[in-house]
Formats: sequence, structure tokens, C-alpha cells
Amino acid sequence: MHYKKNNFYIEKIKAENLIKKYGSPIYCYSTKRLIENINNFKSSFKSFDPLICFSVKSNYNSNILKIVKKHGLGADVVSDGELKKVLSLGFKPNKIVYSGVGKKFEELKFAINKNILLINVESESELKIIEKLAKKLKKKVSVGLRLNPNVDAKTNSKISTGRTQDKFGLNKAEIIKILNKFANSKDIKFKCLSVHIGSQITQNKPYDNVLISINAILSKTKHKFEYVDLGGGMGIKYNKEGKKLDYTRLSKNIHKFAKKNSCKIIFEPGRSIVGNTAILLTKIIYIKKTTNKKFIIIDAGMNDLIRPALYNSRHDIIPLVKKSSKNSISHDFVGPICETSDRFLRTKNYQQLNEGDNLAIKDVGAYGIVLTSNYNLRPRPLEVIVNKSNIKKISKKQSLNDLI
Ligand code: LLP
Repeated sequence: MHYKKNNFYIEKIKAENLIKKYGSPIYCYSTKRLIENINNFKSSFKSFDPLICFSVKSNYNSNILKIVKKHGLGADVVSDGELKKVLSLGFKPNKIVYSGVGKKFEELKFAINKNILLINVESESELKIIEKLAKKLKKKVSVGLRLNPNVDAKTNSKISTGRTQDKFGLNKAEIIKILNKFANSKDIKFKCLSVHIGSQITQNKPYDNVLISINAILSKTKHKFEYVDLGGGMGIKYNKEGKKLDYTRLSKNIHKFAKKNSCKIIFEPGRSIVGNTAILLTKIIYIKKTTNKKFIIIDAGMNDLIRPALYNSRHDIIPLVKKSSKNSISHDFVGPICETSDRFLRTKNYQQLNEGDNLAIKDVGAYGIVLTSNYNLRPRPLEVIVNKSNIKKISKKQSLNDLI
């Protein structure tokens, strides 16, 4: 995704032409970016060849998932729907891990019957249900115990999952207790110790602390885990000021850890694979000038991208046609939804904008389309993917008539 002679392109397609052809708002993905991200992730950790299970919750468009699968990744799922979807797309059960604090009886039964690699257990009650089902179905179920290590991921509080106050996982004492209690179970095999402390993590220290915490458990119990699942959470750079993880250091530390404990590592990345693969194209409807600022009212709203409203996250917004003129007055880019939180960005020094101009909200590939809604009775946006000079529609635009 780049400018060529002041026009913004996704691979070989001029972004403006997509709006002309399909209207706006519209999600647009780059195939090249997605494949690059997959390959970069793989090569960052190639020294220990982890099993990479793409976190389906970040984006479950079938076309995206097919590319992910084609490049050898497995799937991390958190619901019956996600599990059924990846199975229907041909993901191998032995590359699927299933987490979530509230898996129901029928959902667990389905997962057990499909012989997936791991069910990551988040409570003793869940484990008891699994044991019951295993007996009934005459299966030995492979389980991962999800550890809550009480490590602060140093990210937005709403997406932190590894602190004592968070609902996820089992603490160290509970894990040790469970390992002892179920040590002789014929129905359950504790194959993995799993952990996921949060999302959009940009510092290495929390990962270091997780490894310390796991090491402490492994040295306390005699149990030998075949896998350690370190979850996802690797942050991306949403803007110039954003920080990024030091992947070299991360990989080195994990490699050392895996060697010492002779276990295979699993990762569950979502955002780092799809986050920067898409933009949300949108058109300026009106520009409203007040005494000290301009409201740039665009046709994408918080129902089309909720991250800024929900997490205060900052997605850059760029013009599809670049001009050199600068405007120093403050700009608020807002949507048409009847809520004050329907605001995407506040910025100064933007180029001269006019009503009817087209813009792109950047880095919306992860937790973008999956978190859209029909709020204000608005149809969800269409999705397209570009591959060199080919454009493919990868979802259906909801029809307003159907919604009405
Ligand atoms: N594994 C588990 C168990 C998870 O709960 C998650 C994300 C992941 C892996 C993938 O994490 P990632 O690599 O994408 O950071 N809607 C929020 C993010 C919620 C993340 C939930 N869990 C956002 O838009 O920032």
C-alpha cells in the first residue's frame, strides 16, 4: 500500500477506483501484505519452528482464512462458530486449539469428537465436564491448562487478560492442584501449558515475565508438557509514535526456554498477521467548521470500525489523493452515528480537504470487520481483497432492504 504520483494504491489498484466501483465505506485487503506478514512471523521464530495457530477472532473472512491455511498456519478458535468455520474450510484438527472461559457442554462435546489438538481449559468446572464427556465418548482428551500468570501486559486495560483481576485462566496454585488431582486420569491428557496475557503488546518485558512464571511451574511439578502455548498479543505499529516488539530478543528467549524444557511452542497471533493488511475506504460527506476546529464528517461510523470508540485506539487516516497544501486548524474525523464517541481521530496540520474527498482509515485488518454492527440500522460494509491488479469481493454487502 503506497502513494504513486500522489494517488494511493493497494498493490496495483488505485484506491479511488474501488470507491467509484463499489461505493463506500469499504474494507480493502492486500494479499501481498498478508503473505508477507505470515512469512515474517514464521521467519522470526524459525529457530524453533513453532506451531502457529492464527487467531480467528481477529478476522474470520473465509478468503483470509484460506490464505492463512494455504501458508501452513493452524487456527486458534474461541467459539463453536469459529471452530465449525475452520473445520469447514479444511483446517486440520491437529492444528486447532480452542480457548474461552465459557465453553458449553455441547460445544465441548463437538470439539472432543473432532479430535482437535488442544482444548485450553480455563477452570476446574470446565475440566470436570471434559472428563465426563471423555468417559462417555470413550476418548482420551488432550487438554491445555491456561495459566493466568498475573503478568501485566502493559497494554490497554480492556484487552489485558493475564492479571489476577482478569477472568481468564487458572493461577499457579490451581494448576498445580489440578495436575495432582487428575494425575491418574485415564480420560485426560495434560499436553500443554497455555497462556495469553493480552493484545497489542509492544514491550518484551511482559513476555519475559511469562516465561519466568512458566519456568517456576515447570520446576515445581514433575509433569512433562509436550507443548507450551504462548498465545498471541504481538502488537503492531498503528502510527509513527507506536512502539514495536523486539522480535529478535523475543525469539532468542523463547528458543532458550523451549530447549531447556524440551517442548514445542505454539503461538496464537491475530493482529500481527492481519492488522496492517486492510484499510477502510471512506468518503467525506460534510465539513463543518466551528470557531476553533473542523469536523470532517465521513461515511464510515463506529458501527463500521469500533476500535477508536471502544479502546481509544488511534488509526491514522490518510487522503487517497495527496496534496501539498497544509491546514493548521484542528480536525476531528467523525462518523455519522448519533454518539459523541463516534470519533476516529483528532489531528492538526492536515492537507486541505473538501466535501466528497476520499480517505482511508489504516490498519483495520484485525478486529475491524469482525466487530462491525448494524447500529443505527446501517448495513455492514463490503470487503474486497486485491491481488496485484485483481480485485475480488470477499463478502456480500448487506442489503438495507433485508435489514429493514
Ligand atoms: N489467543 C487468545 C486466547 C486471545 O484471547 C487472543 C485475543 C489472541 C490469541 C490473539 O491476540 P492478538 O495476537 O490478536 O493480539 N478487540 C481487541 C482485541 C481483543 C483480543 C482478544 N483476544 C482490539 O481490537 O484491540
